[in-house]
Formats: sequence, C-alpha cells, structure tokens
Amino acid sequence: MDKLLERLLGELEEYGVANDKSIADRAHRMLNITRDTGEFLAVLVRATGARSILEIGTSNGYSTLWLAHAARAVGGTVTTVELSNFKVELAAKNFALSGLAPWIVLLQDDAAQVLSRQHEAAFDMIFLDSERAQYGRWWPDVKRVLRPGGLLIVDNATSHPEQMAPFVAMVKDDAKFATCLVPLGNGEFLATRIR
Ligand SMILES: C[S@@+](CC[C@H](N)C(=O)[O-])C[C@H]1O[C@@H](n2cnc3c(N)ncnc32)[C@H](O)[C@@H]1O
Repeated sequence: MDKLLERLLGELEEYGVANDKSIADRAHRMLNITRDTGEFLAVLVRATGARSILEIGTSNGYSTLWLAHAARAVGGTVTTVELSNFKVELAAKNFALSGLAPWIVLLQDDAAQVLSRQHEAAFDMIFLDSERAQYGRWWPDVKRVLRPGGLLIVDNATSHPEQMAPFVAMVKDDAKFATCLVPLGNGEFLATRIR
C-alpha cells in the first residue's frame, strides 16, 4: 500500500474514533469498520478475485477505500451506496484524496432503490454495513444480484447479535447459501451463494 493511502486510512481511523466518541447523533457518526475488518475485506477481494463489488453503507468511505484498493489490484471496481448527503460529501473528498476515485462509483441513493435496479448475478461480492433493520427487506434483491459463487459479508454480527439474529437466521435457512461467522472486528457474517 502506498504511503499516501496508508496515511489517509490512519487519519480516518483517528477521526472516526474521536468523532464518534464526541457525537451522540447517529447521522453524524462515522461508524467505520475496524482496521482488521478492512484488512480482512481486502484479503477476501484479492483471494476471490472479486471484480464487481457492491458496498451498502459508505459513510465517509473508510471501508470503501479498503475494498477499492484491493479491487484495483484485481482489475475490479466498487459501487458504494450512501443515503446521507453529508456523508456522501465526506466520502467523495476522501476518494479524491486517496487516488482511488477511478475505481469507485459513489451513489447517493436508498439501498433498496439501487438494489432493485441491478441485474441478476451482477456482483461477485457484496459488503452490507448499513441499516440493520432493513436487511430482511433487502434480502431478496441482495440474493438476486449476488452471482452464484459470490460472497456476501455483513458487518456487526457480534457487536449487535440481537439486531442481526432475524437476518442471520433467514440466510442460514436458505439452502442456496453456505454461511459462517468470523469473530473479527465487530463480527463478520459470511454467506456464499452455492453454485
Ligand atoms: C455503519 S455506517 C457505514 C460505515 C462504512 N461501511 C465504513 O465502515 O466506513 C452505515 C451507513 O449506512 C447509511 N444508510 C442508512 N440507511 C441507508 C439506506 N437506506 N441506503 C443507503 N445507505 C444507508 C448511513 O447513512 C450510514 O452512513
């Protein structure tokens, strides 16, 4: 990783922790993944060769940068979706600073709308880190747009187990998916669509 990106990620980590400690309003908290989760996502992208990646929940773009850096290495791109205008502006600035903007498509929209517009099997990988109460409603489209053999990663599986339980149960019950829990960071729930 080049020094510029390394420095930017470090700055975003410090900013995210300090900001989220001092602000109670969720809409203005960054709620970033942990660094080890970023490293894990990057390894998954490289190991699976995922070239078409969808992220739901951009915030200020911290997790997107981990995905995009790895996507660039395998010839891929990341489409990332964020509803908040405030956060889209922060993310766009960070993408420009990182030099990774050409590998990122930033959409300001509701995830449900974006998902409904995508073709079947459009994505090799989907990273879900957004409004947990909506995951069940989004699941039919998430499932439809993930290609067979593709990988879904969902954050906060161990940090918010009660909120995640109905969604996790729904995916586990789906015979077309194989799942596991990776107890790293805030807990990553992984599901691959069986070929
Ligand atoms: C946990 S944060 C994402 C953190 C980011 N993945 C990171 O690690 O840097 C969740 C984000 O989802 C966004 N969000 C909430 N509901 C959404 C929706 N319906 N469509 C798109 N984004 C949404 C929130 O504004 C928030 O920025």
